[in-house]
Amino acid sequence: MSVEPSLEGLREEALAALASASNEAGLEQWRITFFGRQEGRMTALLRSIKDRPVDERASFGANANRLKQELEGALEAKQQDLKDAALKALSTDSAIDVTLPGRPQVLGRLHPVTQTMRDCLKAFGDMGFRVAEGPEVEWDRYNFDGVRIPEDHPARDMWDTIWVNTLIEGKRHMLLRTHTSPNQVRVLERTPAPPVRVVVPGKCYRQEATDATHEWMLTQIEGLAVDQGVRMTDLKGVLYEWSRQMFGSDRKIIFHHSYFPFVEPGVEMAIDCFICRGDGRACHTCHGTGWIEILGAGMVHPEIIETAGYDSSRVTGFAFGLGVERVALLRWGIEDIRNFYANDVRFLQQF
Ligand code: PHE
Repeated sequence: MSVEPSLEGLREEALAALASASNEAGLEQWRITFFGRQEGRMTALLRSIKDRPVDERASFGANANRLKQELEGALEAKQQDLKDAALKALSTDSAIDVTLPGRPQVLGRLHPVTQTMRDCLKAFGDMGFRVAEGPEVEWDRYNFDGVRIPEDHPARDMWDTIWVNTLIEGKRHMLLRTHTSPNQVRVLERTPAPPVRVVVPGKCYRQEATDATHEWMLTQIEGLAVDQGVRMTDLKGVLYEWSRQMFGSDRKIIFHHSYFPFVEPGVEMAIDCFICRGDGRACHTCHGTGWIEILGAGMVHPEIIETAGYDSSRVTGFAFGLGVERVALLRWGIEDIRNFYANDVRFLQQF
């Protein structure tokens, strides 16, 4: 670059001063000396362009601007050098290596059972069911009596669950609910007239010897549809559509007759076992049956319809109660239900 003597002098001086600056403060001093708004020497030089004789002005101006750019570039390079040197000093002089990449933030996510719950509620929601909720600590008259399980009924033994110790007239009456079915009664009670179409999600508690498909705490979704002319085929249609949405259309489902005091007739719905596909081997997930039960269902008992104040000769309904953990097992091919609540992040992270 051919630069006029005065420019060349300024250039050498500026570069030499920059080379000897050894810290932030030195750089700032240098910037003020050469580029300061009032007294900066480069600033003054640029300002003087207009005072040059007309025939020199253009070439002097071009050279001055080129010098300005060169010096600005040199300043930036020097700033970077200082930063690099500081980083290097930090990582060699101290035990902390600041050049190491940071630890990634672990992002939380929804529990697989919560995800499955939401997908189920969405599927039922699309079929016209709204979501209702009921208490987890329940009265025995809702958990048992209201759904036709009187005090001497054998089902009470099977569901002798966790009771609250408060005595009323010498007896315990509050318990952690064993199923979501008490909400059949609760919802009917507060709905003056049909139609009723709800799904009620929630946790339930049971006395249970835990194994691959049983936990003592489980999540259920209760379904209830009550109206004039509701039939068993409506129940099957809703459950077929729900299982198609959850598992796709090539899974097999089967209804077996079953007994629950609050429905008549009662059924159990099962899905073909994803582990053995019913090939007859000793499978601990389906216990060799080829089927995994995922819900109980049936036509709401006329007595329950009547107790709600509806006329059971005209109004009928269906109900179902499905186990959300079972659905999640089947969806992802998980072999043991106990994984869900073992709180092992390595398991939970996979969903
Ligand atoms: N409440 C039953 C259970 O927990 C399931 C069920 C609900 C059965 C509704 C029939 C109708 O096992």
